[in-house]
Amino acid sequence: VKAATTTSTPVEEEAAAGDGGGTKLSAWTSVRQERWEGELAVEGDLPLWLLRNGPGLWDAGDVAFHHLFDGYATLVRVSFSHGHATGAHRQIESDAYMAAKKHGRPVLREFSQCPEPGNLLDRVRDAVGLLSGAALTDNPNSTVLPLGDGRVMCLTETTKSSILIDPHTLDTVGKFEFTGKVGAMIQSAHPIVTEFEFLTLLPDLVRPGHLLVRMEAGSNERKVVGRVDCRGGPTPGWMHSFAVTEKYVVVPEMQLRYSSTSLLKSELAQFYAFHWLPASGSYMHVMCRSTGKTVSKPTYTRRQVAGCRIDVHIQYILVICTCFAR
Ligand SMILES: [Fe+2]
Repeated sequence: VKAATTTSTPVEEEAAAGDGGGTKLSAWTSVRQERWEGELAVEGDLPLWLLRNGPGLWDAGDVAFHHLFDGYATLVRVSFSHGHATGAHRQIESDAYMAAKKHGRPVLREFSQCPEPGNLLDRVRDAVGLLSGAALTDNPNSTVLPLGDGRVMCLTETTKSSILIDPHTLDTVGKFEFTGKVGAMIQSAHPIVTEFEFLTLLPDLVRPGHLLVRMEAGSNERKVVGRVDCRGGPTPGWMHSFAVTEKYVVVPEMQLRYSSTSLLKSELAQFYAFHWLPASGSYMHVMCRSTGKTVSKPTYTRRQVAGCRIDVHIQYILVICTCFAR
């Protein structure tokens, strides 16, 4: 389904030039309608329903986004009944999206873009806002999580982006309010959810490390299972996704590390909010899933990375591939 467009961003023009009349790069095309629903053609066997999210709106006013993590989040649902498929999509009403809609420009800091501060007051406000997390985006365009208790959460890497949606109406229900003593500005974009629990990793930007936290189905309280201290670098490695087995949690510590300066000053670092610090090394920490204790010394992985001639761009693509493989 293609919504009517009146203007095109450079990304959209590139998408239109792709193979198949604009379908090749359709992920980069803005969804101009906030809401739509209608019947879809059916091919093959059908599950009951599918629900996905992702970047749906690629610009606000004159500002166009260029990174896959920046587009304002859109929910897409395909439901199946009596041999028919019904499609629906709806814009998630995050604070970031609603502010951009109101002001005609991005107001909150997105993954790869910082709003231009107009004056000294704006800079001070940005610094204060970023220290508290208030100026960071809550655009939940990375993941849809059906929780064990029936609630459905969308999120991205900021904790404040954890937003509940109604899978039937696609309404934005509101913020998911975490309770308990665990505080964190940043989280993994891909928690692990079962019918019993929600597991995620929270980077500690002050004392470089990662907290493994667990939330029981039906609860809003995250409890600390364990912690790994980072082995190298001044800040934690970027925590986008991680692996869990029946007994263990694998915590990657990558050479692509958070830039505290970038976050505090609302300025882009070498790679958005990160610095590429190859000398700091990459490691794999293995924790016991039940006790939270580290069960082996961190495995140094730089040799493998260097041996494969994998640079930051390839590492980034691997992260993306991991996401889509889930
Ligand atoms: Fe991802």
